[in-house]
Amino acid sequence: MSLKKTIGILAWREGKRFGEPHYLRQLVRAGRSLGAEVYVFSHQDVYAREKKIRGFVPGSAGGWESRWYAWPQIVIDRYRRRVPAYMKLRHSGLFEFANSPFSKKWRVTQLLTDDSRVRHWIPETFVYSPAKMRKMLEQHLIVYVKPGNGTGGRSILKVSAKGGGYELSGRDKSYARKTARLRRADDVGRWVKRWVEEQRISGGNFLVQQGLDLELVRGRVADVRLLIQKDGNGEWRVTGCGVRVGKSGSSTSNLHGGGKAFPFHLLVARRFGEDRAQQILRECHTMAHAIARVLEEHFGRMMEFGLDIGVDVNGRVWLIEVNPKPGREIFRQMGAMDLYAEAVSRPVQFALYLLAEKEAKDSSKTVTQAPGRKRQTG
Ligand SMILES: Nc1ncnc2c1ncn2[C@@H]1O[C@H](COP(=O)(O)OP(=O)(O)O)[C@@H](O)[C@H]1O
Ligand SMILES: [Mg+2]
Repeated sequence: MSLKKTIGILAWREGKRFGEPHYLRQLVRAGRSLGAEVYVFSHQDVYAREKKIRGFVPGSAGGWESRWYAWPQIVIDRYRRRVPAYMKLRHSGLFEFANSPFSKKWRVTQLLTDDSRVRHWIPETFVYSPAKMRKMLEQHLIVYVKPGNGTGGRSILKVSAKGGGYELSGRDKSYARKTARLRRADDVGRWVKRWVEEQRISGGNFLVQQGLDLELVRGRVADVRLLIQKDGNGEWRVTGCGVRVGKSGSSTSNLHGGGKAFPFHLLVARRFGEDRAQQILRECHTMAHAIARVLEEHFGRMMEFGLDIGVDVNGRVWLIEVNPKPGREIFRQMGAMDLYAEAVSRPVQFALYLLAEKEAKDSSKTVTQAPGRKRQTG
């Protein structure tokens, strides 16, 4: 049997509009060049009774073409919105997924803080309360306040003690910049309390976190984005990393906030010298592998993680956030097109590895169950 392997990519779609059209196109193309049948579908494209799927592939004249496809042998979950119909499908047992469901930011932080193998890389973090906020302000020169279920740099507030007072700077829900200068800790407490009440996302909580001094470049926040993925042998491998530098005066480095991407060495070696930069990079890799291992123990099989890593002004390495469905745009923005291509192709390589592994298992089962019988070939 030489049938092509069928891989489905589950993603958000409305009409012919997909959440990440560019990436999804590249993913389908990467699949083709690896000899697989890859298509994109959304929750509304699943006809379970008929066992068929409406799948989308890039059209010849741009846009997307759709037709009926066979049930996917494996599905890569790339749905990045918490739409109820998606959540239902995700837990329906209808598909075999390459990557397991993941948890909210605060739960992940909690879990990593509780694990002695990785704890030392996690900034001190608590669920927000006015008392915790006060305490953190006494202990750290910088404190971050952020939603336990947020993304994209929204609703994140940085509080820094400066010149006998406090500077507050953040992005609200709609990404507008908010700043304040306050004299007393009490005022900060009140301001932050209001912030948390206004910025709360669908009843979620807020975190107060030890703030890292990430001013590797003066007046800017810089952090490392590292992509670790499973390869075609099912092994974790760091695909690459880059540094994202925020806009001057911005409290985050996120791209939506006007951040820019640079190669790791360019920035880190300029600040710390070649040798130290090499050491820091090694630690980032070690941490990425340890984090992937610990998280996989909790959540089941995973496929890739994008880590937001803080390298502080003393060269210490910290984990800021784990993204289970990370972008790889940073490589493109750095002009590292080979890394970008590799980052796109790895999920397909891993999915194919899983299918090959399953096939091997199934055929060895047939052999042991029916010892006298000849194995089918061709
Ligand atoms: N504890 C912290 N110390 C320093 N900078 C932080 C801290 N937490 C967040 N940041 C900055 O804010 C950005 C966004 O925070 P993150 O936790 O990754 O949330 P999001 O899910 O919105 O990306 C980070 O990439 C970093 O630049
Ligand atoms: Mg982030």
